[in-house]
Amino acid sequence: MKHEKDWYKNLVIYQIYPRSFKDGNNDGIGDLKGMTEKLDYLKELGINAIWMSPVYASPNVDNGYDISDYFSIMEEFGTMEDWEAFRDGAHKRGIAIIMDLVLNHTSDQHIWFRESRKSRSNPYADYYVWRDPAPDGSAPTNWMSVFGESAWEYVPERDQYYLHLFAKEQPDLNWDNPEAREKILDIVRFWNEKGVDGYRIDAISYLDKGLDGRSNDAELYGTNACVNLEGTHRYIKEMTAKTMAPDNLMTVGEVNINSPQDAMDYASAASGEFNMSIAFVPPIVEIQTWSPEKLKRDLKQDYEVLKEDGWWARFFSNHDKPRQVSLYGNDSTYWKESAKMLACYLHTLPGTPFIYQGEELGMTNVAYSSIEEYDDIDTRNFYKTMLDQGAAPEEALAESQRISRDNSRTPMQWDASDHAGFSEKEPWLGVNPNYRDINAVSQLQDESSIFRFYQKLIALRREHPVMVQGDLTLRCPEEGPVIAYTRSHEATTWLAVHNFSDQEQIYEAEGITLTPDPPVILSNYDAHNRVFKDGNPVLRPYETILFQLG
Ligand code: GLC
Ligand code: CA
Repeated sequence: MKHEKDWYKNLVIYQIYPRSFKDGNNDGIGDLKGMTEKLDYLKELGINAIWMSPVYASPNVDNGYDISDYFSIMEEFGTMEDWEAFRDGAHKRGIAIIMDLVLNHTSDQHIWFRESRKSRSNPYADYYVWRDPAPDGSAPTNWMSVFGESAWEYVPERDQYYLHLFAKEQPDLNWDNPEAREKILDIVRFWNEKGVDGYRIDAISYLDKGLDGRSNDAELYGTNACVNLEGTHRYIKEMTAKTMAPDNLMTVGEVNINSPQDAMDYASAASGEFNMSIAFVPPIVEIQTWSPEKLKRDLKQDYEVLKEDGWWARFFSNHDKPRQVSLYGNDSTYWKESAKMLACYLHTLPGTPFIYQGEELGMTNVAYSSIEEYDDIDTRNFYKTMLDQGAAPEEALAESQRISRDNSRTPMQWDASDHAGFSEKEPWLGVNPNYRDINAVSQLQDESSIFRFYQKLIALRREHPVMVQGDLTLRCPEEGPVIAYTRSHEATTWLAVHNFSDQEQIYEAEGITLTPDPPVILSNYDAHNRVFKDGNPVLRPYETILFQLG
């Protein structure tokens, strides 16, 4: 569908993980019918775009990120008619549709691959990345795949190895082949015709494998060895120019950002690639390295790099990460406060906010008591690797609980009835036992709920240009857990202050003088007993305040 230039700046994007959102036919698996049933709920929240994780035909080795047919819908999710009904329902409510494009690899069950593996001379022989064995018969390089084990798989029929940067059931496409490239772009054209408004493009920084000597083979993982090479940018520009830019479709690429230059390459208008990018960081790395200080540093750098000519995707959660309130907030004593604070942070920054399903209810991590209850291929491989390396089962389980992508994939908590109102049948993945307290029905009844807070933030963005167009200046010391910044646009200046800790903190304003007790637009604590010390607000644990300065 054709759009105005820059329309993506006004979006608030809600990510649906279809398998876990709502089961419309009670077989235990979320589906398109269920998604359509819940459009009014999303309208009430106020979002105006939905990104759905893949709904195409797939054997589900990686839950839909292994696609066997890009032109049909996964049977478990419904039919093309169901997809069209969802699209129409969304469009009728002014909600844009963003599809997830997985174009780095297909499923090994895709017809192209089933043909390709048969011989070196069939019409699809060159659609994937095939290489001869090393002289001793071993794999062409020592690369590991993201999910563990070698990134190469041997096929006797061809006496060759194929490359899979992810699971071995996810063979990498050969973007160097112009014919394959056109066929890949036909997928995008097909969905354009169906009225899609934008795309989230999966794992897109590895299109050019650099196997002619440009890859960095000192890196263990293939995705590190061939990341962000020249051909990748060339192929993305070609795809954007041919299939997305003409209609101003919204684009967000899932990429790896290792330098300011990478950020510009992927998300500045001048480079002609994406409107914005989602930087992929493995959960285990994020858990170990994040801190409020690091958030501040990254925020400042990202802002400087892209402020002239780029844009930002603002998110703490998706289907690949633990739940945000558990990771960055506090999912026990300050559950409600911290969930709201994280929301206020993301929604008051320049950029397009992303909400991952259930985040608006403050859904938390889950801890299954055995590895068998986990579904995620990444978690299962991780657990196995830990055992192979000599870890005790309890230790491997505890670590898996912390990093598992299933933390965010548990069924959506709609109400307090059995299976959380997600389905009448036992769901494909266990519901989080806290659903009797944390669910949509109870939050819709409560004016002070997390859901209601999200509603307010989204409404503010709709009503006040400063939220979208305002510039950003950090107003806090580099050290410590308080993050504060002003947003200014024309005569308006707002100040957002967040306490990323469970201790009281005095906010020391930098570069601005606060008038005594400035008007508050939004906060997660009662304003009546707010204390100021020498003019500086004393922030309670996880307090967030949006002040109006002018
Ligand atoms: C992306 C997806 C993730 C998937 C991987 C392989 O990182 O977000 O879920 O496993 O790509 O497609
Ligand atoms: Ca179903």
